[in-house]
Amino acid sequence: MFKTLRGRIIASYFLVVLVSLLLATLVSVFFLSRYVHNKERSDLLRQVEAIAEDINGISGELQRSPSPPSSEPQQGSEPAEAKRVIMRILNSEAEVLEVKLILLAPDRTVITESRAGPTFGEKILKLPPGILSGKGPRITEKFFEKLAGNYVFATAPTRVDRESEGHLIAIKPVHELGSATSTLIWYVVFAGLIALGISMLLALYLSSAISKPVKAVTRAAGRMAEGDYGQEVVVRGGDEIAELARDFNLMAERVRTAYELQRDFVGDVSHELRTPLTSIEGFSQAILDGVIQGEEKQRRSLEIINEESKRLVRVLRDLLLLSEIDAGELYPEKKDVDLVDLLRKLSSMYEVRAGREGIELRVDTPEGVLNADTDPDRLERILTNLLDNAIKYSGGGTVVLSATGGEGLVRISVADTGQGIEPELLPRLFKRFYRVEKSRATRHGGAGLGLSICKELVETLGGTIEVRSLPGQGTTFTVTLPRAVA
Ligand SMILES: Nc1ncnc2c1ncn2[C@@H]1O[C@H](COP(=O)(O)OP(=O)(O)OP(=O)(O)O)[C@@H](O)[C@H]1O
Ligand SMILES: [Mg+2]
Repeated sequence: MFKTLRGRIIASYFLVVLVSLLLATLVSVFFLSRYVHNKERSDLLRQVEAIAEDINGISGELQRSPSPPSSEPQQGSEPAEAKRVIMRILNSEAEVLEVKLILLAPDRTVITESRAGPTFGEKILKLPPGILSGKGPRITEKFFEKLAGNYVFATAPTRVDRESEGHLIAIKPVHELGSATSTLIWYVVFAGLIALGISMLLALYLSSAISKPVKAVTRAAGRMAEGDYGQEVVVRGGDEIAELARDFNLMAERVRTAYELQRDFVGDVSHELRTPLTSIEGFSQAILDGVIQGEEKQRRSLEIINEESKRLVRVLRDLLLLSEIDAGELYPEKKDVDLVDLLRKLSSMYEVRAGREGIELRVDTPEGVLNADTDPDRLERILTNLLDNAIKYSGGGTVVLSATGGEGLVRISVADTGQGIEPELLPRLFKRFYRVEKSRATRHGGAGLGLSICKELVETLGGTIEVRSLPGQGTTFTVTLPRAVA
């Protein structure tokens, strides 16, 4: 039970409620018993005073003639009648109050005492010291040697005959005071048990309300672990569990996207490698089997094998570069790069190839110096990819390499007057393996990695790349980079 979140919530509720109830019971029992004890003491004293008051009225008749506790006074005489009345009062009150009542003369001789309670049978009652000191009514708790226990003594002065004033004294064991507390304790315990029951019902309800959404996330996470990535949990409210659910959904979406990307990537890579490998395998097998006869034909086949091998090497090199970028292992080595110089160098590198394709290659740079703060090797890689595309896909016309300076940045463009690209295809252009012409059997047959490499390299240099294109008119790629500090 304690292994589940719900079980733990219920157990914690139970413990918290139990401890609070125990504490509340202990505190209330302590104060209640003190209150009841004190109240019973003062009630006892008040009642003793009232009885003393009653006796006052009657005892004017009494003569100082003590008699043994239960012996009946002689009938007929007035004092005897008064004494009988006093005895009756003491007996009935002692029963009601559950105390021993004794009427003492000023010299502490027992005038009369109630039947209830212990019988002392003494003429002069030996009380603990200090019980009868002072004038007014008084209540004290003392150890009573005679009865070997703690007793409470409530005393009130009262007249015992016409002339003298004695004491009415009530004696009761201390432990009998506050006996009502035990009943109260049971009420408190009973109320506590009801509170415990109700709070357990609440705990059941609340724990299910708390654990339900957590369970939903756990279930969804479990299904994801089994490979079912299409998970989404319902988000309710704005508490921590809702935050967990929201973050889970975000994570699930990212895992889904990463999984799809990886799946597509593996598919694309296999596809990309299969074409040249099939070609290499087919031609080499044909040569080995002697199917391709004649020096010229064999040479042509070997050329194809060589071209396809180079293509394989190119694709693998690009993939390696992309994986290095993905792993964040590519750190730019920035320095001042003379852009005019770089563009001229690139132009002379591609001059011959452009001429072969019937393309006019031009460099357009401003007068004076234009420097960028960048990594020259990476910038060269970016621009060769763009130039390669411009020559490959324009099929004639002009290709212009240009650079301009702006506020703290430089713009380098590669513009062609070729076939252009449909506007709706532009957003996908920088994705890995994306090509406008799908067939790999086309003359150019690129892998579709060049522009994605450009974009990611430009980003490692802290710049941006954008494309503008009009179908039938041409395409311009513009790279923006931080300018070198003069
Ligand atoms: N200047 C351009 N004019 C017209 N289309 C272009 C131009 N540059 C790129 N494209 C289109 O964008 C696609 C993606 O280009 P990218 O350079 O990424 O791949 P690729 O050239 O096909 O292959 P790779 O560069 O890996 O050898 C190209 O296949 C092509 O269809
Ligand atoms: Mg390319």
